[in-house]
Amino acid sequence: MKIIISARNLTKLYDSIKAVDALNLEIAQGEFFGFLGPNGAGKTTTIRLMTGIIEPASGEITIAGNAYPNLKPILNLIGVVPESRGFYEWMTAKEYLSFFASLYNIPNPQKKIEELLGKVNLSERKSSMIGTLSRGMKQRLGLARALINDPKILFLDEPTLGLDPQGQEEIQNLLRQLNKDGVTIFLSSHQLNEVSNLCSRVAIINKGKLVAEGTIEELQKKTKLEGSTLKDIFLTLTNDKHV
Ligand SMILES: Nc1ncnc2c1ncn2[C@@H]1O[C@H](COP(=O)(O)OP(=O)(O)OP(=O)(O)O)[C@@H](O)[C@H]1O
Ligand SMILES: [Mg+2]
Repeated sequence: MKIIISARNLTKLYDSIKAVDALNLEIAQGEFFGFLGPNGAGKTTTIRLMTGIIEPASGEITIAGNAYPNLKPILNLIGVVPESRGFYEWMTAKEYLSFFASLYNIPNPQKKIEELLGKVNLSERKSSMIGTLSRGMKQRLGLARALINDPKILFLDEPTLGLDPQGQEEIQNLLRQLNKDGVTIFLSSHQLNEVSNLCSRVAIINKGKLVAEGTIEELQKKTKLEGSTLKDIFLTLTNDKHV
């Protein structure tokens, strides 16, 4: 098993808040990894740290053998679907992807863009201004953007938030296919059914700290909740009343 993402003692402070607190995580190549935690647990902050958007106060991150702050080789390996996307509402879907293709120096960008628009089912809307797209379409465009450089690792922060069941399923099917094609996936989501269906292993954090990690069966054993849903396990492990 080759470890492709590793965080060691990762810590990030916002004033006195420890958004991420001595977090240790290891994700193997090809894994579909679920990253869970209540609101404010530190999931987005962890993804921002792992993708180089913010710097840790202390600790180490290694992505495919490259340790921060040596960022350059990492940027070509990863794709990110962030929590909130700063879309350029006045660009068309195609212009938006062209812009990112040029940032990454993608060879033969038009071919790549048509392929991605097809993959996320937006070919018919490629000339629509982003401001006129529905929420689900914007999410799919964000995913297409994250795939522009054929990433080996894809980080997604609540990619199906606010989508209808069909929209959720479309994104889930795309992610499942990408993972089958060998992409390592790091998925943060509050949709616990989605996580149960997709992920081979999960970690749960609370107040910046790792609470548990393992396969769903392992977490069922750990919490003595054999046969229970991930939701029950999650609620048990993140219940603070004993603290
Ligand atoms: N830019 C910032 N400035 C100050 N505090 C921040 C900042 N970003 C995050 N925090 C704080 O860090 C903690 C973790 O926030 P984070 O956004 O990582 O949580 P999360 O797990 O992604 O939550 P959610 O499920 O609501 O998206 C929270 O207490 C939050 O208020
Ligand atoms: Mg978040």
